[in-house]
Amino acid sequence: MAAAATVTSSYTAKAQIKTENNMKSVIVYFTHSGNTELAAKQLAEVTGAKMIRLIPEQAYSSDDVDWTNEQSRCTQEHLNQSLRPAIKPIDIDFTKVDTVFIGFPIWWHEEPAVIRTFLDKYSKQLINKVILPFCTSYESPMSEADATLKKGYHSLKIRKGLRLPAQPEEIKKWIKK
Ligand SMILES: Cc1cc2nc3c(=O)[nH]c(=O)nc-3n(C[C@H](O)[C@H](O)[C@H](O)COP(=O)(O)O)c2cc1C
Repeated sequence: MAAAATVTSSYTAKAQIKTENNMKSVIVYFTHSGNTELAAKQLAEVTGAKMIRLIPEQAYSSDDVDWTNEQSRCTQEHLNQSLRPAIKPIDIDFTKVDTVFIGFPIWWHEEPAVIRTFLDKYSKQLINKVILPFCTSYESPMSEADATLKKGYHSLKIRKGLRLPAQPEEIKKWIKK
């Protein structure tokens, strides 16, 4: 009984935030080592949005993400900006969504190529949606990925992103901007 009450009150709190922001949102994210998934969970706590993980058809091995190796998959995907690693299909009805959060780890000071695959593949459905990117990184600021996303996808409404983790108040302020 107590557990049910907790679930109900947390559901109500989340529903309230959603109503406050007047948005139907979804969190689409890619993670390799789990940090961006934690960030997506933090965002889901604040927004009540559903989380959807982007999964590459071919998983990244530790050799693939070796940025010290010029021949590694991640370095090649950075050097050749036209590469689009295939991703597994995702289950979103975009007609029911008006805000799409897109999360990723910074790779080579920008969004990983998997994110470009997602943006290319779903670009028609994403037109006129509010897109809010977020990242995790060792130290790179979100502004670097903001710049590459803006350059590559100027027809989409991509707003200024946020590096997570962040305080809930900062997240709410970012969403409301
Ligand atoms: C291939 C690769 C490139 C990276 N490049 C950067 C970078 O340019 N700047 C930075 O601050 N962190 C960089 N990182 C660190 C990741 O952004 C950071 O560890 C991130 O939180 C990982 O997220 P994840 O656990 O969701 O995969 C890189 C990591 C990898 C694997």
